[in-house]
Amino acid sequence: MKLYLDTADIDQIRSAVALGVVDGVTTNPSIIAASGLGYREAVTGIDDVVDGPIFAQVVGESADEMVEQAHRYQDWADDVVAKIPASRAGFEALARLRDDGVPAGSTVVFSVEQAVLAAKNDADFVAPYVGRLDDAGADGLETVRRMQRTFDRQEFDTDVLAASVRNTTQATALYEAGIDAITMGPDLLDAHVGHPKTDEGIAGFDEAWGDRGSPIEE
Ligand code: E4P
Repeated sequence: MKLYLDTADIDQIRSAVALGVVDGVTTNPSIIAASGLGYREAVTGIDDVVDGPIFAQVVGESADEMVEQAHRYQDWADDVVAKIPASRAGFEALARLRDDGVPAGSTVVFSVEQAVLAAKNDADFVAPYVGRLDDAGADGLETVRRMQRTFDRQEFDTDVLAASVRNTTQATALYEAGIDAITMGPDLLDAHVGHPKTDEGIAGFDEAWGDRGSPIEE
């Protein structure tokens, strides 16, 4: 399973990378706008601190614009994957990018049928939005479970990359369902670290050890 960080905040990326679990970084136009960085600046800055793919979304409405941007992103870092919205123009762009050999996948995905169109285009990933599916009155987790089951049974190479994941309950349900990949904000990754009972246990051990100093001091 791949675990990606969903942010363009370089300090937060650096701190998450130190945990040893970050396989790459996902971004979108909202995330990059919030960072105050330009698109290229964000991608190259992330590239300096992460060993793994950087997902950069295209903007605009025509397939031509999307294809041009996805090609250009390739010049900015060694491992950039273009995120293409799952619209009609987006699927057309995806098909053209596949023919051009440019890494790309579908984002803002809300249904199994959209995901299948992306997989049939040999997309590198499809990104269903769990939290936003719930917001829309659907069952986000169940939609993603069905997507993953479909991909496994059809033996599609495309990764199901769960996005818009908001809490550890959703994240652990996705791990249990055998999700190919997940992306999460730094806060959600932080929520994976530690546990109140772990803190209590550590405090108890520290208290028992008292002022005896480091175990390696003779
Ligand atoms: C995924 O790549 C998206 O950037 C992200 O997960 C969307 O999440 P949101 O619904 O919290 O904006």
